[in-house]
Amino acid sequence: MRVVRGQVWLAAVAAGLVLGFASMSSASEKGKQLYVKHGCWQCHGFVGQGGIAGPALVPEVMPYEAMLNFVRTSNRAMPPYKVEILSDADMKDIHAYLVALPKPADPKSIKLLNP
Ligand code: HEC
Repeated sequence: MRVVRGQVWLAAVAAGLVLGFASMSSASEKGKQLYVKHGCWQCHGFVGQGGIAGPALVPEVMPYEAMLNFVRTSNRAMPPYKVEILSDADMKDIHAYLVALPKPADPKSIKLLNP
């Protein structure tokens, strides 16, 4: 009985992992972790929505090259991230994460906003 219960629990965890990861590609999933690790969320919010300290990065995500250039050379309120701290490949994953975030609904499609 004990063993069976353990197996059911494990199966549930495995299913949860599969379903959870299925919604995002592995690049954007890794990018999400890097976005958190490098503290982008502290100023830009967990889903890039922007905050008091930093502007929104979504829903119009700038092209990867432009974002990389900005992050490397930022010289105003945002600290620059040198390649020794954040590699080009990791920045690409962060970009993939932002691109993969679901877009907000068109306000015209929300009935309550269009009486
Ligand atoms: C200490 C707060 C802070 C952190 C941490 C931070 N940012 Fe920023 N970021 C800002 C601010 C403030 C601006 C606006 C700066 C400006 O206009 O010079 C900005 C601007 C940007 C822009 C340009 C947005 C635009 O539309 O012009 C990008 C892209 C960006 N940040 C990405 C990132 C990424 C990726 C990370 C993590 C690797 C990060 N930021 C970490 C504060 C921060």
